[in-house]
Amino acid sequence: MSKVVRKAVVPAAGLGTRFLPATKATPKEMLPVVDKPAIQYVVEEAVAAGLEDVLFITGRSKRPLEDHFDRNFELEEALERKGDDERLVLVTEPTELARIHYVRQGDPLGLGHAVLVAENHVGDEPFAVLLGDDLIDPRDPILPRMMQVRDQHGGSVICLMEVPAESISLYGCAAVEVTGEDDVVLVTDLVEKPEVAQAPSSYAVIGRYLLDPAVFDVLRNTAPGRGGEIQLTDALRVLATMPAEAGGGVRGVVFGGRRYDTGDRLSYLQANIMLAAEREDLGPDLRAWLREYVANLS
Ligand code: UTP
Repeated sequence: MSKVVRKAVVPAAGLGTRFLPATKATPKEMLPVVDKPAIQYVVEEAVAAGLEDVLFITGRSKRPLEDHFDRNFELEEALERKGDDERLVLVTEPTELARIHYVRQGDPLGLGHAVLVAENHVGDEPFAVLLGDDLIDPRDPILPRMMQVRDQHGGSVICLMEVPAESISLYGCAAVEVTGEDDVVLVTDLVEKPEVAQAPSSYAVIGRYLLDPAVFDVLRNTAPGRGGEIQLTDALRVLATMPAEAGGGVRGVVFGGRRYDTGDRLSYLQANIMLAAEREDLGPDLRAWLREYVANLS
């Protein structure tokens, strides 16, 4: 049951409407967080967990994505001529990170549909899905723990985070049962963006998944749900009720580390400030300026 997870799928074909006009010709995953596109953090996280085969699900504006992970000889030569080795490393790094593949989603019919598009590449293996909206601090990796849980129990593993009750309606929410392990719960059901009073728990689903290949059959039979989109959450609900022999079972690993939400504008701005304020190069000056700026805010 416990085939090793080797491949990462990174959906980047959404319309990114919350970030228009920035995302008119650029995927939202390419927006910089401090000085790196969000998607590079995600690929680095996958590679750090041993997933060196990365499949991007791309949409209509895939060019910037492909270019970022490809060589740029003109830029490299210019930096070489200047002897700017530090920046040369920054330019070549993304090209050497992983074996990167691309597949087009065609119509952005939802996250579940984007995952289904990965089927040919993934085959009959468990695989990881990482969303660029959730930036997990490299100091608090969660994929290795999720992989352990998948090794022990098979099935699929999702990542959960406890959020204040009033925020739960912004997320998918999991109904859970405790297990013998503090940081692991059995997921019995999922509700997309519930009203506070209807939320079955305070566990929000965040954008890291280890999926059993059984998800593909389920997704093929998943009708469009919330927002008319084929939702991964709906497929996970089905997997949660399926027997283990059929690839069913969903467990949640509770994440208690640092995570930044880059999916909406306010959280994106906060993520940039928080990450930059903690950096050695930018942090001291930014923190000093922030203190003064905030003190003078009326
Ligand atoms: P979101 O719903 O957050 O992305 O999907 P979106 O639709 O681009 O965002 P808004 O609400 O319009 O601003 C979560 C992830 O799934 C991908 C997105 O690119 C994002 O990484 N996605 C979503 C796809 O790849 N295809 C889809 O059809 C939908």
